[in-house]
Amino acid sequence: MTDTDIKKGLAGVVVDYTAVSKVNPETNSLLYRGYPVQELAATQSFEAVAHLLWHGELPSDAQLAELRESERQHRALLPSVKAVIDGLPVDAHPMDEVRTAVSAIGAEETAGISNVLDAVGSPEENLERSIRLFAQLPAIVAYGQRRRRGLDLVEARDDLDYAANFLWQTFGEEPDEVVVDAFNRSMILYAEHSFNASTFTARVITSTLSDLYSAVTGAIGALKGPLHGGANEAVLHILTEIGDASNVVPWLDAALAEKRKIMGFGHRVYKKGDSRVPTMKAALDTLVAHYDRPDVAELYETLESEFVSRKGIYPNLDYPSGPAYSLMGFDTLTFTPLFVAARITGWTAHILEQQASNALIRPLSAYNGPDERHVEGYVPDEAELEVAERPEESAG
Ligand SMILES: CC(C)(COP(=O)(O)OP(=O)(O)OC[C@H]1O[C@@H](n2cnc3c(N)ncnc32)[C@H](O)[C@@H]1OP(=O)(O)O)[C@@H](O)C(=O)NCCC(=O)NCCS
Repeated sequence: MTDTDIKKGLAGVVVDYTAVSKVNPETNSLLYRGYPVQELAATQSFEAVAHLLWHGELPSDAQLAELRESERQHRALLPSVKAVIDGLPVDAHPMDEVRTAVSAIGAEETAGISNVLDAVGSPEENLERSIRLFAQLPAIVAYGQRRRRGLDLVEARDDLDYAANFLWQTFGEEPDEVVVDAFNRSMILYAEHSFNASTFTARVITSTLSDLYSAVTGAIGALKGPLHGGANEAVLHILTEIGDASNVVPWLDAALAEKRKIMGFGHRVYKKGDSRVPTMKAALDTLVAHYDRPDVAELYETLESEFVSRKGIYPNLDYPSGPAYSLMGFDTLTFTPLFVAARITGWTAHILEQQASNALIRPLSAYNGPDERHVEGYVPDEAELEVAERPEESAG
């Protein structure tokens, strides 16, 4: 084995087929089950996109009504899960809180299954588990932000669709239509992105025939990392640091001189711009008008044009979504948990796909440790020698 055989970070390695989404680097575009994501964001509810990701087709009116009914039924935060959250330090990282809550839901929902072979469940059970997690995450994320602010849980409202209810449970106020629409679009844009690190983590865990909750818990752990899910939060930190459009040029001069990465710009795949950005920027513009905050748009646009003209590196989805979530009233720390609530749809679609066509994911490694050596005085017994001497074709 040579250095070129090793694909560090699995860069460029195609590990499987997927029918869930397609990332196209030539056109900087993203398709969910064949549909451009920006078309879905402009025309669909997040619930309809969840159905599309799980089933492969957009829902009929009756199918959408059925999913909405099921989602409403499972919105409430289970008392046992609330007790687990309440047992965590109030300043626990919100991603730790969400990860722990999902793990607790898994323990609750698979209680009584003593045979590990049964924990994986049938495709029908796993679709239901997916819908229940999709329905419960808004309460977990919303309660997390409220708990950090010293506020009580707000009960779900049956008369509101997913996005409006999420905002209701977070802020305890009737949300404005403009805000609901921007939030719905953001959820759709964050829902899915092929074999990214967290989705791949979910697929690796699923490939061992572990259960869906374990796969999602692992995916949340992967998403927490700043090289993956944390960039929308980081965008807000830099915009806050700059403060005002008039500070952009000196701030950028200094940041580039220090070789700082400008958060919300650049992408490993999309080199000429991210097709999700215009849709999210349009949603941000509606929020800027709604909250009468032209200063936010001015700062956003000044930094974008200065950075693009100097480096030729374009914004990614996190650039408009960070300030959009901030204008809606979400704390910066809640941004990555919002990403979890959106991506649960993509993760579970991939888990279902992996289960339907499974192969244990188990790559090889090139060993570069010490040569074989032995503990002084140890004498192998005959059974060990017999294993070591078995012909190669019988090795598993
Ligand atoms: C996303 C990211 C990790 C992609 O990394 P990558 O594929 O290794 O980046 P590239 O190979 O395109 O980088 C080429 C050059 O542009 C620079 N560059 C890329 N993104 C940059 C950014 N946001 N700010 C400043 N410089 C950047 C790199 O430092 C590199 O410079 P060099 O050739 O002088 O070393 C990177 O763009 C980044 O860190 N962006 C900021 C964080 C972010 O927004 N993440 C969310 C992604 S969805």
